[in-house]
Amino acid sequence: MSTEDSARIPTYISGLDERLGGGVPRGHIVLVAGPAGSLKSTLVYRILWHAAVDRGLSGLYLSMEQSRKSLMAQMSAFGMEASRAKTLNVIDVRGLRRELETNSMQPHWLLGLREQLTRYKAELGCDLLGVDSLDALYALTPFENPRNEIFQFLEEIRDLDATVFLVSEMPADRRTFGAYNVEEFLADGILHLRIKEVEVGLTTSVRRFVAVLKMRGIEHDMDYYPLLVQKGRFEIVTD
Ligand SMILES: Nc1ncnc2c1ncn2[C@@H]1O[C@H](COP(=O)(O)OP(=O)(O)O)[C@@H](O)[C@H]1O
Ligand SMILES: [Mg+2]
Repeated sequence: MSTEDSARIPTYISGLDERLGGGVPRGHIVLVAGPAGSLKSTLVYRILWHAAVDRGLSGLYLSMEQSRKSLMAQMSAFGMEASRAKTLNVIDVRGLRRELETNSMQPHWLLGLREQLTRYKAELGCDLLGVDSLDALYALTPFENPRNEIFQFLEEIRDLDATVFLVSEMPADRRTFGAYNVEEFLADGILHLRIKEVEVGLTTSVRRFVAVLKMRGIEHDMDYYPLLVQKGRFEIVTD
C-alpha cells in the first residue's frame, strides 16, 4: 500500500475516486445526504466493507434505522457477505441502547453514545465509522440547544480519529443537507445522492445521481454524475 493510498479512503464508486485523487482524506467527517432509496446506507456500508476486506481496516457501522438482520440481508444481496469482512462490526440500535443503559451514567444519549464509541474503539477498533442515520440518532435525543449539542458531538467524534460517514435523510424539497442546518458547515465533506425522474417514452423512470459538494483539502468539481449500480459495481458516468 503506497503512502498516498493509505491517506485516502476510497468511496469505491468507479470514476468518482479518480476525481477525488483516490478517495476521501483519512480522518474526514463526511455527510452522506439524500432522499430515501438513494443508496446512502448501501454506499456507506460498502465503503466500510471494502476497507475491511481489501485493507483490513476496522469499521463500526451503527445501524439505527434498520435492524442488523435486515441490513445484512440487503448487503449480501449486493454481494457483500458479512463473513468476508472480519474487521467490520455492525451494531444495531437495540444493542446500542442496551449497552448505553447498562454502561452509561449519563441520561443524555449523545454523551452516552460518545462514551460507548470510545469503548467500541478500544474493543473492536474504529478506523472507519458509519452512523446511519443522524436523523434516527436525533429522534432518540431530546435536544435543548441542537446546534450546540451537534457541534459538541461532532467535535467528540473527531477525537476518535476515524474517517466518519454520517448518513442524513434529505427530502428532495429541502435545501439543507442536515436537519439542523449546521451539519454541512461542521462536516469536512458532503456527498449528495439525488434521485431524479426522467421521461423515457411513455415511462417515467428514476435515475440516481451523485455529487461531491464539499471535500476539504481536495480540488474537485461539483457536478452531479449519473450513478450506475450493476452487479454490485458502482460507477459514475462521465463523458
Ligand atoms: N441487490 C440490489 N442491487 C441493486 N440495487 C438494489 C439491490 N437491493 C436494493 N437495491 C436498491 O437500493 C435501494 C435501497 O438502498 P439504501 O442504501 O437502503 O437507500 P437509503 O439508505 O438511501 O434509503 C432500493 O430502493 C433499491 O432500489
Ligand atoms: Mg438507509
